[in-house]
Amino acid sequence: MTTERLRLDPARIRELFDLRSHVYDRMGGSFEEDPYPAFHRLRETGPVHPGTPGRLIGFQGTEFFHGLPEPDREHFSVFDFETCDAIVRNPEVFRMAPPDPDEGERLLHKTSILYMDGDRHRRYRALVQPSFVPGKAQWWIRSWIETTVHALIDNIESAGTADLNVDFCAAIPLLTICGSMGVSVEDALDIRESVTSGGQAVDRFMQIVHPIVAARRSRPADDLISVLVQAELTEGGETHTLSDPEILSFAYLLMAAGSGTTWKQMGITLTALLDRPELTDAVRADRSLLPAVVEEGVRWMPTDPVFSRFLWEETTIHGVTMPVGSVTHQCYAAANRDPARWDDPDTFDPRRTPRTHLAFGSGPHVCVGMHVARAEINTGVGALLDRLPGLRRNPDAESGRIIGMYERGPTAVPAVWDA
Ligand code: HEM
Repeated sequence: MTTERLRLDPARIRELFDLRSHVYDRMGGSFEEDPYPAFHRLRETGPVHPGTPGRLIGFQGTEFFHGLPEPDREHFSVFDFETCDAIVRNPEVFRMAPPDPDEGERLLHKTSILYMDGDRHRRYRALVQPSFVPGKAQWWIRSWIETTVHALIDNIESAGTADLNVDFCAAIPLLTICGSMGVSVEDALDIRESVTSGGQAVDRFMQIVHPIVAARRSRPADDLISVLVQAELTEGGETHTLSDPEILSFAYLLMAAGSGTTWKQMGITLTALLDRPELTDAVRADRSLLPAVVEEGVRWMPTDPVFSRFLWEETTIHGVTMPVGSVTHQCYAAANRDPARWDDPDTFDPRRTPRTHLAFGSGPHVCVGMHVARAEINTGVGALLDRLPGLRRNPDAESGRIIGMYERGPTAVPAVWDA
């Protein structure tokens, strides 16, 4: 990946990475209300309530996310740390697939590990897990993250000002995960468009990724498609390699999750940092503070606030009985500000004693990409501080707002520096 190849259509990237654009309508991207006061109220008066998280906090738009809309099922939402954590650590009762699946066509992304349970999930996840362990972070950084980060800074450095949300954060995770799959920069925005289409526009995805799978079958490279092509799976005593549809499904989930989350989280981190100039100065002076800033950012405001499970047994929690086949929505964002676990939970305080949070989930489906996400944000923010002297919020631009219902992030991260 070279600097001159890093030319992404500015209008297209702005549309694909703007929570207020039509791309995010189904996830309530333009929802402007601060959900945290309602999260606190619902935790105090629950912590389990009948209903979806959106409707419970006053969001009236379309609800399309993990476990949604599922209009024929009962929905329950959970707002405290202990219950959310206990639910996702009980994968026998609370599963990714419903006990009574509809007979409709299985979309590509629904055959991925995020929708698998039990042994099958463990076996498939184990195929990619070794590429995502902390020890592999340097592989990601050296192979893709660093080059992308510095090429993007090359693009903006001399201007002295940028909207870091679009001009910086948006492209890093997309080009990282695309690079790791052998997808060119030229095709990256088509991939993003395809994985945000709700499983509808998969033809273009196939057109781009299928030939890469074929190429890696005959000549493996040092990338993730090659890992998937060479992976061996033992099922029912028989060992086999993955079929093309299985590889494409895996790649689809990784590209959707990899390109859709970290850009917003990096924007949230930068917003928190630039809103606190004394903290920016402290991190600039002592870079060892940065990992704690990044981790506090994901606790304080995770970009994906809610994930769901289907009930396989009737269960009563905190006096609320939930029937078989109903959906529970774990509000990780509310759990991460549970005062039973964190003092002064609404305050962004990277110096607090770290405790495990739920921004990356917990239990068997805990985020596979969390160490890559951390590496991307740490490398990206660290490089901005290294290369853009006096980096600060742009006082002349309208400040960004953190918005969104099922996907959250800033509208903009306007910044200036001494060019
Ligand atoms: C800051 C960025 C990210 C956040 C906040 C995040 C959050 C999450 C959460 C909460 C889950 C668990 C969902 C559940 O409990 O049902 C999850 C799962 C997953 N994430 Fe991430 N994620 C991020 C970045 C990434 C990246 C960069 C990748 C890939 C490169 C990735 C790949 C996945 C995959 C494949 C799963 C499904 C794991 C499974 O079902 O076993 N994520 N993520």
